[in-house]
Amino acid sequence: MTSRPSGPFRYGDRVQLTGPKNRLHTITLREGGELHTHHGVLRHSVLVGQPDGSVVRNSGDHEYLALRPLLRDFVMSMPRGAAIVYPKDAAQILAQADVFPGATVVEAGVGSGALSLWLLRGIGEQGRLVSFERREDFADVATANVETFLGEQPENWRVVVGDLVEELPGAVEPATVDRVVLDMLAPWECVDAVAEALTPGGVVVCYVATATQLSRVAEYIRNTGLFTEPDANETMVRGWHVEGLAVRPDHRMVAHTGFLLSARRLAPGAVPPDVKRRASKTSYGDEDVELWTPGAVGDRQITDKNLRKRVREAQRAADGARLAAGRADDPV
Ligand SMILES: C[S@@+](CC[C@H](N)C(=O)[O-])C[C@H]1O[C@@H](n2cnc3c(N)ncnc32)[C@H](O)[C@@H]1O
Repeated sequence: MTSRPSGPFRYGDRVQLTGPKNRLHTITLREGGELHTHHGVLRHSVLVGQPDGSVVRNSGDHEYLALRPLLRDFVMSMPRGAAIVYPKDAAQILAQADVFPGATVVEAGVGSGALSLWLLRGIGEQGRLVSFERREDFADVATANVETFLGEQPENWRVVVGDLVEELPGAVEPATVDRVVLDMLAPWECVDAVAEALTPGGVVVCYVATATQLSRVAEYIRNTGLFTEPDANETMVRGWHVEGLAVRPDHRMVAHTGFLLSARRLAPGAVPPDVKRRASKTSYGDEDVELWTPGAVGDRQITDKNLRKRVREAQRAADGARLAAGRADDPV
């Protein structure tokens, strides 16, 4: 791969500049190139040969801090076709899917290519990533983003345009894939194809945005009998403001992005000793909806007697307020 994450700047490098008022500009260094702002002109040549993390000045004597964008900076600012996997979730996907150098990994859909970049980094040059995307336009955005960040199309990355269920059997041999990551609306539709492609002990990780998707894919995976018990979680990252004695959590955070669910492929015919089979809940009838009433999920329901008491209390309070306002004879 041609991209270099360190060393002095050279032509072709992407550089993130923080200028006056913390304004960010991302440029690709090229011979004769200039960054024009209303603060003046910064010639690209001023940066070439400087170490990463240098401060340079433009023609208006304004300072710019120059840094190579980290992968997390790049994915947050790159063009998006579809919503991306955020860095906090990508890090967890790499850990929970146990992505390792040399692994054969399948992902779908490729979307904007954010997760593809993290996976490519995780598998290294000896690994192989096959990414599936239904929409050709999204695949184009993703391949352009990957090329922008890495400086070339990696030889160990293949993008297949089409539906994973249809394309996966033709793209990989059965039981040869080490890891599969599904980031799509209906991952349960792909579970059978994934089970066929995964090697025994291989890991599937699904990234879903809603609790209903999480429930549905968990039940589907469980009911195949081909995987270990699914494990689900979400990751919340809360930033902290740390300055002198002002040390406190940030006021704002990205609270919800998605849930992760992972499971491992069992060997053919294997039945884990502790599997407790439960009735399927993959579709929701009236009976299922009833299970989600506040009482059933643990919220204490107020009794009729208590409710009547609360009504009386509220009416007494309203009477008192009316009296205080000199309107004792107002109709209730
Ligand atoms: C949220 S995006 C993926 C974002 C991507 N992981 C990233 O980090 O940039 C979901 C993508 O899955 C694609 N998709 C949905 N179902 C698919 C399927 N069965 N096969 C292939 N792609 C699929 C959609 O077209 C969409 O682009």
